[in-house]
Amino acid sequence: MFFDRPDSGEKTVLVHLVIDSEEERDDPTEFEELARSAGASPVAYIGGTRRQPAPNHFVGSGKLEEIAACVRATGAELVLFNHALSPSQERNLEKHLKCRVLDRTGLILDIFAQRARSHEGKLQVELAQLKHLSTRLKRGWTHLDRQKGGIGLKGAGETQLELDQRMIRQRIKAIHKGLDKVRGQREQGRRSRQRAEVPTVSLVGYTNAGKSTLFNALTDAQTYAADQLFATLDSTLRRLELPNLGPAIVADTVGFISHLPHGLVEAFRATLEETASATLLLHVIDGANEAQDELRMEVESVLKEIDADQVPRLEVINKIDSVPDGEPRLLRNEAGLPVRVWVSAKSGVGLDLLLTAMTELLSGGLVSQTVILQAKQAKLRSHLYQSKFVTAEQTDETGASILDLRLPKAELDRILAQEDLQLGEPKSTPSGQSDSLPHVQAVIAGSVSGS
Ligand code: GTP
Repeated sequence: MFFDRPDSGEKTVLVHLVIDSEEERDDPTEFEELARSAGASPVAYIGGTRRQPAPNHFVGSGKLEEIAACVRATGAELVLFNHALSPSQERNLEKHLKCRVLDRTGLILDIFAQRARSHEGKLQVELAQLKHLSTRLKRGWTHLDRQKGGIGLKGAGETQLELDQRMIRQRIKAIHKGLDKVRGQREQGRRSRQRAEVPTVSLVGYTNAGKSTLFNALTDAQTYAADQLFATLDSTLRRLELPNLGPAIVADTVGFISHLPHGLVEAFRATLEETASATLLLHVIDGANEAQDELRMEVESVLKEIDADQVPRLEVINKIDSVPDGEPRLLRNEAGLPVRVWVSAKSGVGLDLLLTAMTELLSGGLVSQTVILQAKQAKLRSHLYQSKFVTAEQTDETGASILDLRLPKAELDRILAQEDLQLGEPKSTPSGQSDSLPHVQAVIAGSVSGS
């Protein structure tokens, strides 16, 4: 259940303390960007240091007064903390500051609530919100006006905030059920793609790297792209025709962010798991961001965490249009395989190189094979054509079809295991060995008229 956003941003005071006992957090600009992503209008920033959080108000009494004075002076409606607050700290702060207080988890959940597009993503957000809010509901929400909606109140929504714990438990149960169902459907979809050997290319990268823009540029889909963090929450799947190779599924995934609260990593793990089963990962990197090396490492470590670090990878350095001397180019490793490509998703330069690189990497596991099909195997013949595996066809004097195929090795093995097939002379590249693009072009060129 989602609410309309208030028209203008809420006046917001940002509070970020450096706590000795916590690991160092990114610079305040990331926090400010997060707040703006949620629709806040920051009116003041309050920093400071503390050895450890104070139990009652998180901040000490001096800092508390400083924040209270700032709220009064600016007329702020919301105070955002760049930390996790306990429910009682949040309550005590609201009582003292006489305005709404939201912690980092609540803020990120709010952003997720705005960005979730698929049914599954929406359910995941609602579940995470209910879990986060249920601990904060114990003593009621009546001490401040929560009827308006606003940052931290979207998604789960005001009516749900008024539900008692029993109803919340029921809702959580219903969401779990709904999630099981959509996961089952997604798993089914994934299996049928695997059966058909349609490769999946998953776009991953730090938030704001330009994944949605690239996804659109590649697939012509009108996916929402905005200069805000987290424009993508769900894996979004689109079909792409790769030149000389055939169909592939491209998946746009949630943007990674550092210091994502652990509970949220768990909540969104399922959407990221799609990534681990991809055939190829495109790691999109914002080439205009000075911190790109750090962000690249952050992404690598998340990939490892979700067991996706073994999936073949191509780095896509994006936004070359906003880098001085940014030129489209393709870098290959010693074996001649593409490892990095420089593009601009916005202007489209370099996308031809990207498509070439994707085709090369995906065709690495293709083999060529000639098979002889009898007339009664028309269904198989039609499957082979539909899958664009046929590169040439002849008919012999008995009426049997002699088909030259080019297809993934696993698909060939599957067909051979299921069908009684006569093989012609193998023409082939062994599995796993990379094919050069010109060869693929040559084979395909001779075939299309037959299909
Ligand atoms: P999340 O969904 O938050 O993870 O973001 P994302 O990685 O999907 O980024 P998105 O495509 O939403 O782009 C983020 C911002 O970068 C938008 O303002 C885009 O217009 C901008 N952008 C994307 N590609 C390019 C590019 O090639 N050049 C320039 N100059 N800007 C780009």
